[in-house]
Amino acid sequence: MSPSPSVPVLTIDGPSGSGKGTVSRLVAERLGWRLLDSGALYRAVGYAAGAEGLDLSDTEAVTRCARETRIRFQAVADGSDTRVLVNGHDATDELRTETAGAAASAIASIPSVRQALVDMQLAFRKAPGLVADGRDMGTVIFPDAPYKVFLTASAAERAQRRYKQLKEKGLSVTLGTLKREIEARDARDASRTVAPLKPAADAVFIDTTGMGIDDVVAKVLAVVQS
Ligand code: C5P
Repeated sequence: MSPSPSVPVLTIDGPSGSGKGTVSRLVAERLGWRLLDSGALYRAVGYAAGAEGLDLSDTEAVTRCARETRIRFQAVADGSDTRVLVNGHDATDELRTETAGAAASAIASIPSVRQALVDMQLAFRKAPGLVADGRDMGTVIFPDAPYKVFLTASAAERAQRRYKQLKEKGLSVTLGTLKREIEARDARDASRTVAPLKPAADAVFIDTTGMGIDDVVAKVLAVVQS
């Protein structure tokens, strides 16, 4: 149960490449609310487990790792970016790769790993409000959130967006491989038994295919302001 039920939360769930990350950041800025990038937590645990040389299917070892890993978000001085520190090491760049996304998806299907990250996520709920970006924000972590959005887009467009994002970060990827990797990750996220990727019954569904980021941000803000 959330420790601060009176603090408003806007949950933004959806598959990879739906624009969630960018939209969540911009909406949080506009509202002056805090931001929880829950995907970064799963990526950080996957990364820490890999750094320890753990077998990602070793439930016990990965759960221990999830409980012990120290994850900190640190805004850069000019406010342009947030760095993610994993056990004191700035792992931001490593966490952005599709390899880290796949590792995150693998460990995220372990119920005890998800449980280990619950309190950390609830602690983000602080005044004046929180924008929570993920897969199960509206269904599991903040089921009482007053504002819920589910963003999606066609598979082709999501792959294209991720491709552009990764290229801009200087990572070497091919569109075909990325599309296959994203499809595999989404299929796993949607079919797992615990906290599968699915819209909350009370979420506003927004298909962002063909929409510009400003229009999506405006639509999401309208959900909060309506
Ligand atoms: O959003 P992002 O692509 O960073 O998430 C990486 C992976 O972490 C997802 O594919 C999913 O398996 C997992 N995840 C999750 N629940 C969340 C956020 C992310 O299972 N709330």
